[in-house]
Amino acid sequence: MATLFTGIKQLLTFAGDRAPRAGAAMRETGLVKNAAVLVEGGVIEAAGPRAAVARHKLAKKAKVVEAGGVCLPGFVDSHTHMVFAEPRLKDFSMRAAGASYQEIKAAGGGIVSSIGAVRKQPQKAMAAQLAARAARFLECGTTTAEVKSGYGLSLDSELKMLRAVRDAAKLTPLELLPTLLAAHSVPPEFNGDAQRYLDYVTAEILPKAAAEKLAVFADIFCEKGYFTPEQTAAYLKEASRLGLKPKVHSEQLSNYGGTRAGAAAGAVSADHADHVFAEDIAAMRDAGTIAALLPASNHYLGLSRFPPAREIIAAGVPVALATDFNPGTCPCWNMQFVLSAACTHCAMTPEEALCAATVNGAWALGIGDRCGAVMPGMQADLAFFEADDYRELCYYFGANQCLMTVKKGKIVHDKK
Ligand code: NIG
Ligand code: FE
Repeated sequence: MATLFTGIKQLLTFAGDRAPRAGAAMRETGLVKNAAVLVEGGVIEAAGPRAAVARHKLAKKAKVVEAGGVCLPGFVDSHTHMVFAEPRLKDFSMRAAGASYQEIKAAGGGIVSSIGAVRKQPQKAMAAQLAARAARFLECGTTTAEVKSGYGLSLDSELKMLRAVRDAAKLTPLELLPTLLAAHSVPPEFNGDAQRYLDYVTAEILPKAAAEKLAVFADIFCEKGYFTPEQTAAYLKEASRLGLKPKVHSEQLSNYGGTRAGAAAGAVSADHADHVFAEDIAAMRDAGTIAALLPASNHYLGLSRFPPAREIIAAGVPVALATDFNPGTCPCWNMQFVLSAACTHCAMTPEEALCAATVNGAWALGIGDRCGAVMPGMQADLAFFEADDYRELCYYFGANQCLMTVKKGKIVHDKK
């Protein structure tokens, strides 16, 4: 049976080309006032002015949901590390007392301090914990999230993380897209020998993850003390040969060359981009790489520097926004906070921020042809918010304004 979501004060459709949005197109929200969305079989049949949608032949017998508020495509969070066993509260206290990312790492904290508990955790418990976290994302209006491995850093534990993502996908309506991030940091047993560890990842982990189809993407942390641009380029080339789409953590803490290495390897997205220069931005534009900005992590780390969104948008590179939800640098799953941070600290307009969190997020995951916009034929992934004007989603912060979330046509969160 069809469902008619109606009484919507403002609907942002982001209707337009089935392509990532760049430049001025990022401000085209496809706003419809007094709107309705008609859904059947998990797919959008019609979306637009209430009266016009009501005339659709399927609308007559549809179940009617008086939704109200502001409706958007469900958020597509294109960068998360949502599988981890324990929060890193010691790192948090150190950081609150003034320690930097590098100082926390030197004191035994940071990424490798997450591996002990992850290696011990049974796959079943890991999947259950992930599904429970997924519910928090759904409550905030996120309908699709990418999920990275990268806290196991051994063959068994990295594959276990990815299998837990596969298992959790059966326990939650949140759509999960897995990424192999075995190249996240060098585990202690390799004594700081990044090349030897990367050779092991390339020979052992990458082919098994690819053969078992456990990951859609392969990612690597290109940064001083982690992996070099040369290693990044070679690793992503091999990942891509095995059918995994490249992504890269680049220019997060310094300008190091990861963005250019990723773009040269055909990365779908280059993520963080805090320290990009003009030549890095040009490389993304020329390669069709999306810049995924993660300003909630800058906020959490107490950094004064944020990604230069204005320069990136001016250069014609499509920008996506994501949470970077993880235990070390961003314990936040709420995309609404990311919208606020993007407008306040990256000078993005509310229209650009909302585009980046929906349609461009979907393209950063290569699924923009089926989600990220409210158009006939697209997956019926919707989020409804308690607001009269869509700008309120970027304006109020620290709260969850989401009233209802719909995934493939089904109500999966309802505040009422
Ligand atoms: O995106 N930069 C590398 N990875 C994460 C940090 C993960 C962690 O500290 O656990 C990030 O910020
Ligand atoms: Fe990250």
